[in-house]
Amino acid sequence: MPRPVLPLREVTVLAPAKLNLSLDVTGRMPNGYHALDMVMQTVGLYERLVLRRSAGLHLRLPGSRVFAGENNTAWKAAVSFLRYTGLLAGADITVYKEVPVRAGMAGGSADAAGVLAGLNELYGARLSMSELCALGAQLGADVPFALLGGTCRVSGVGDVLKPLPPCPACWFCIVMPAGGGVSTPEAFARYDTLGSSLHPDCAAQEAAIRAGDLAGLCAAAGNALEECSGASETPALKARLRQLGAAASLMTGSGAAVYGVFETEAAARAAAETLSREKPEAQVFCAPPVRGGARVAGRR
Ligand code: C5P
Repeated sequence: MPRPVLPLREVTVLAPAKLNLSLDVTGRMPNGYHALDMVMQTVGLYERLVLRRSAGLHLRLPGSRVFAGENNTAWKAAVSFLRYTGLLAGADITVYKEVPVRAGMAGGSADAAGVLAGLNELYGARLSMSELCALGAQLGADVPFALLGGTCRVSGVGDVLKPLPPCPACWFCIVMPAGGGVSTPEAFARYDTLGSSLHPDCAAQEAAIRAGDLAGLCAAAGNALEECSGASETPALKARLRQLGAAASLMTGSGAAVYGVFETEAAARAAAETLSREKPEAQVFCAPPVRGGARVAGRR
């Protein structure tokens, strides 16, 4: 006799952070959002989420100062999923945060993506990737990419994704300065006043990725929000990463994290060791590019 399939009690999700390999601002939408042209990459630095079946909805973020209230992206994602599916259920959600906050690495979007992917599995709801992305787009501009992940040319407000072949092999050394993170709306508001002298060629970067050309990827790397992020350490950190051997260095998203692109893991780790010594207050990470976005890594 076939054994009855027991419902899942718990799932664990890994939701990767992202880096912008390039970011250009190309215009403004009627709703005040900015039209963007970007190349985004998920990296091997993860938010870990554990979701358990429950009648009510509960959210915890142990060890993090991020508030677990109704404005939390993970909470909003759960509410939106339960509404959309009509499930009369809840979940106990624990988010173990690894991705720095206000860094331009989409940690909050990764949390939302992780909840959507996790609840989809926990309750066997079988929403498609495009349904999840449509739900995600209402929660934040980066959530669809946090679900799909990999290497993408991204346009619209961040919600129009064109998957690219995986980016050429490399490692990133990422530095989150201690001086405090950046508020994304404030960075965009400053952009509206100040503009930018930097407009990276995202089409050239896409071509370099398609050709497997790391030098070309690095030559086209740039971020139009860098000058207006308000993160004062960016120029010095970029210069130091280049001195330490990075083939390119730039800010990600609206900041404040800055990263260097290295050809090997050993080179990225050597740079990270030096920077950790020089800046003991900063958070320093090493990570490779990874394929895919938020994914279920464990079931019980
Ligand atoms: O969508 P998300 O919550 O990530 O965006 C945060 C803020 O960043 C928005 O409220 C908006 O002020 C700004 N933003 C923008 N244009 C985008 C994405 C975000 O102006 N494409």
